[in-house]
Amino acid sequence: QWTMAAFRERMIADIRAQVGDGKVICGLSGGVDSSVAAVLIHEAIGDQLTCVFVDHGLLRMGEAEQVVSLFRDSYNIPLIHRDASDMFLSALAGEIDPEVKRKTIGKLFIDVFEEEAKKVGGAQFLAQGTLYPDVIESVSFTGGPSVTIKSHHNVGGLPARMNMKLVEPLRELFKDEVRALGRELGLPESLVGRHPFPGPGLAIRIPGQEITREKLDILRAADAVYLDEIRKSGLYDKIWQAFAVLLPVRTVGVMGDGRTYDFACALRAVTSTDGMTADYFPFPHDFLGRVATRIINEVRGINRVTYDITSKPPGTIEWE
Ligand code: XMP
Repeated sequence: QWTMAAFRERMIADIRAQVGDGKVICGLSGGVDSSVAAVLIHEAIGDQLTCVFVDHGLLRMGEAEQVVSLFRDSYNIPLIHRDASDMFLSALAGEIDPEVKRKTIGKLFIDVFEEEAKKVGGAQFLAQGTLYPDVIESVSFTGGPSVTIKSHHNVGGLPARMNMKLVEPLRELFKDEVRALGRELGLPESLVGRHPFPGPGLAIRIPGQEITREKLDILRAADAVYLDEIRKSGLYDKIWQAFAVLLPVRTVGVMGDGRTYDFACALRAVTSTDGMTADYFPFPHDFLGRVATRIINEVRGINRVTYDITSKPPGTIEWE
């Protein structure tokens, strides 16, 4: 009889057998997969594991703080938190091409991760939260058979370059099974049920324009209002992903007696089972009206809100 409890025990035994008394480094992203992998490995080998969280400054509101407090304070897992936001923002300065942004972020991520990992000293193993779909779809993503529509923030080159052996305890699991394992391990529902979030983060949600701290702050604030309303309405778990996009256009508005000339944002929410195809989420109009009013009232810098009703295909989930 296959149960999550039995899987957990078997994985713990396997990790111990593989690692022995070696040292393991695990990159944390704030997402479900790397978090579950880290907690499972920590259960198996304790402080032989060090987690490395490279903070690229492109996360959503409060996310970096949540990662640090969960791992350091709740689980007592040795954690290196590297705030590299200045480096990432300088590397992205002036860049608007989505593929260049992805590659810039991916490359820098590996450089910074490697730098931090070296400081741990003597680690022979690199842990990754690779899932079964990542294993079978590692070549092309979202595209047809041979078209790459979006290249992925991919750390596949890392283990070879660092000359490390891989520990990938989730390789046999699908996303829903990873969530079940996370619950089995006692991870909070807020993490286990979290929507997927792309590696390049908010950089690909500020399309067609230069990424700046100011724009990131505006986008974060709008996104937080949107997600807050989604949670309050009990819709979060019905949605695959929901997020705001800061559009590269300023629009004229009126507030009180004054004219405003601020950014427009788009809201996106989709249902999906695997991210390969998706339908836009049919929010009630009053919900959309409430979110738009709150964003315009509470977020300085945005004076217009639109809702994206494109499904995938022909759209993609992210705007770029
Ligand atoms: P698209 O936009 O291609 O997205 O329909 C499908 C799923 O992939 C996520 N996504 C990414 N994830 N690096 C990632 O790690 C990326 O560069 C990237 N681009 C898109 C997207 O959020 C959705 O879940």
